[in-house]
Amino acid sequence: MKIFLDTANLDEIRRAADAGLIDGITTNPSLIAKVAGDRDPKEIYREICEIVDGPISLEVVGLDRDTMVAEGRKLGAIHENAVVKLPLTEDGLKACRDLTAEGFRTNVTLCFSVSQALLAAKAGATYVSPFVGRIDDISGEGMELIHQIRQVYDNYGFKTQILAASLRHPLHVVECMMLGADCCTLPPKVLWQLSKHPLTDKGLEGFMADWATLGAEL
Ligand code: E4P
Repeated sequence: MKIFLDTANLDEIRRAADAGLIDGITTNPSLIAKVAGDRDPKEIYREICEIVDGPISLEVVGLDRDTMVAEGRKLGAIHENAVVKLPLTEDGLKACRDLTAEGFRTNVTLCFSVSQALLAAKAGATYVSPFVGRIDDISGEGMELIHQIRQVYDNYGFKTQILAASLRHPLHVVECMMLGADCCTLPPKVLWQLSKHPLTDKGLEGFMADWATLGAEL
């Protein structure tokens, strides 16, 4: 399963890339608004693409097909690893089909139902992003959506990759792995939480204490 980092924060991206733990990045307009300040978002996108050698999802902000296609072309031209992220609307699906036909990779985002995921696949999306946490937030079963999309895509041999998004904690990641999501995109905090276990800390403390009794060096 591929792990993407869900952020536009360059320090966080460098930290995870330096550890060699991430396969790509996803961004969205809210994430870029958090970090851009006075900077042109496109400059930040370029910098992200220089740091991480993998798919980098960059989102359009137009709402109609023609604007999305025009923006998608510009985003796709930023770097060969750019993936054009489009909302799961009628116009977004049409733009997805247009951009796919032109050879761009696409990520259809804001997916909240299996019927939407079916249309993303029919539109030729490279990735579909079901938002697990936001469904949980309204007392739904976010993970059930991952299960259903996996089943439908497998039933019909759709090649669109399931990019589980809006993941809030390590258990979400574990469940995605068990259900066969192709990729998970994680906020930096969740990525680092995956490495934590209290027994690891306790065990290490014990090893260090015992080693110290030797007064030796390696
Ligand atoms: C995915 O591509 C989105 O950027 C993201 O996962 C949304 O997560 P949120 O619901 O925590 O904002």
